[in-house]
Amino acid sequence: AIPHFLWPVFGYLLGSISSAIIVSKLFRLDDPRNVGSGNPGATNVLRSGSKAAAILTLLGDLLKGLIPVLMAQYAGVSNGILALVAIAAFMGHLFPVFFGFKGGKGVATAIGVFAALSWKLVLVFILVWVMTAAISRYSSLAALVASAITGLASFALFNQPDQLQLVGAVFWIVAFTFQRHRANIDRLRQGTETKIGAKKAD
Ligand code: G3P
Repeated sequence: AIPHFLWPVFGYLLGSISSAIIVSKLFRLDDPRNVGSGNPGATNVLRSGSKAAAILTLLGDLLKGLIPVLMAQYAGVSNGILALVAIAAFMGHLFPVFFGFKGGKGVATAIGVFAALSWKLVLVFILVWVMTAAISRYSSLAALVASAITGLASFALFNQPDQLQLVGAVFWIVAFTFQRHRANIDRLRQGTETKIGAKKAD
């Protein structure tokens, strides 16, 4: 059996694989780090004009959050280790070892992590994201509102003493999601944020 402390390492390595960069290469699109918002994520890949590439990016980044947490759960790790695996996969996306530690904003990977932790949690995230995006057409605003509500929901969901680490992992992820969206928050306040599917980011 795999020693439990290795699960977070596995999560981090998987999280470090940038779907946006790999998918863009496969589709012969511009490197997402050099176009639009410069963010290697599904929203920015969509700006290249390829919906298929954007969906594949979303799926890939989601799976790298989902898979390590599900596998560690299946291996029977403690909730403390599970929380570390969740954080590690997410942080891999933000600070990828394979791409000079310059990663993305973590929204898709967070969705995968939340899905592995609880279907109720991910349902809250997706419902709030879709509703906010439908009304505002801003991917960043949808991610921020959904993250904040999901953080609150995690309190109610993980209400046993031995689940406190899971709440901690969700809050860690929410905090970094906000930190990573600072430029988006500035643009939202100035009314210059790009709407979903629109070409330019600034
Ligand atoms: O998931 C990232 C999204 O919230 C914002 O992406 O490219 O518009 O900065 P972007």
